[in-house]
Amino acid sequence: MATIHLNRFFIGAFLLILFTAQLAVLVHSKNLHPAKWPSFQNLEGSRKGLTAKGIQNVKNYMRTFGYLNDNNDKRNDHRNDDQFDKSLEIAVKKFQRFYKLNVTGILDDGTISQMKTPRCGVADVHDLQTLGIVSHYAFFPGKPRWPLVSYEANILYYSLDVNNASGVSLEMMRYIATEAFSQWKQASNITFEESAQGKLPDLSLGFVQNDGPGNVMAFSYPPTNGTLRFDAAESWSTDIPPAKTDIDIIWAAMHEIGHLLGLDHSTDKNAIMYAYIDPGVNKRTLSQDDIDGIRALYSS
Ligand SMILES: *[C@@H]1O[C@H](CO)[C@@H](O)[C@H](O)[C@H]1NC(C)=O
Ligand SMILES: *[C@@H]1O[C@H](CO)[C@@H](O)[C@H](O)[C@H]1NC(C)=O
Ligand SMILES: *[C@@H]1O[C@H](CO)[C@@H](O)[C@H](O)[C@H]1NC(C)=O
Ligand SMILES: *[C@@H]1O[C@H](CO)[C@@H](O)[C@H](O)[C@H]1NC(C)=O
Repeated sequence: MATIHLNRFFIGAFLLILFTAQLAVLVHSKNLHPAKWPSFQNLEGSRKGLTAKGIQNVKNYMRTFGYLNDNNDKRNDHRNDDQFDKSLEIAVKKFQRFYKLNVTGILDDGTISQMKTPRCGVADVHDLQTLGIVSHYAFFPGKPRWPLVSYEANILYYSLDVNNASGVSLEMMRYIATEAFSQWKQASNITFEESAQGKLPDLSLGFVQNDGPGNVMAFSYPPTNGTLRFDAAESWSTDIPPAKTDIDIIWAAMHEIGHLLGLDHSTDKNAIMYAYIDPGVNKRTLSQDDIDGIRALYSS
């Protein structure tokens, strides 16, 4: 079900939608968009030298999130097979260092559970120096940011691209956006306004069918791209707290807006810019790390 679970404020609107035209778009087939990464089951304990079905998926995961960059490594014969090679061991160790797991190079319990948690689709590691430093925010390479001085009064305009994929109403999108932008506004002094009809927005928030439930729950791009997309296949919620398997869409929106503004993933577990989202939990407060990050980016 690609439904969004609504807080009480929206139950009226929700029922209205439900009993009018949109019932069909709330339902979709799971098999239509199979998960890109299977559950990594049976791989626990895997280490260098071992060959096991599914190791290829671990390599894809490490590539996608910036830990394994072996596409041009012609000397490596194991790029596309199930052998746990030296490059993968190095990648797993980098991943473990970033997430403060035991740095063993082995797919232990802590590492597998981390990998199974829903997360943002943006890669963690764009700058390998990040791995050497303490818990901290990060920027994208070249520190891209919005050139606000050339805009009227530090305003960024956003559009809410309500479409077919999600079954989410414009009112609901407005509520999510308002909640998610408010603390970034306080921290950065940037004002966010919905763009008028027909005006070209800076930012665009919407839904897309991505990789099925779990895995990547949303993605976005660094400045000045402005595109943010939630995976319509997730079970989203605005509840406090969300149901055990639902994902807090306000948390996800705050996280992705951080990317739109120019912050990369933080290694600080308390930060909104931490890449993983625990289902059944709300996180809606910028951490000091997020605030320091956005101020460092826009005050210089
Ligand atoms: C690290 O290893 C220790 C000892 O084996 C274990 O108790 C602990 O739970 C591990 N930590 C993580 C994050 O996996
Ligand atoms: C909604 O999606 C369905 C199937 O994906 C498609 O057939 C239909 O034309 C879409 N409707 C609109 C209004 O985009
Ligand atoms: C935001 O603007 C106020 C008033 O101009 C100023 O005092 C404050 O330092 C600014 N904060 C940031 C983070 O730039
Ligand atoms: C944002 O980046 C994506 C991926 O590179 C691209 O497809 C899209 O056209 C870009 N959008 C804008 C508005 O630049």
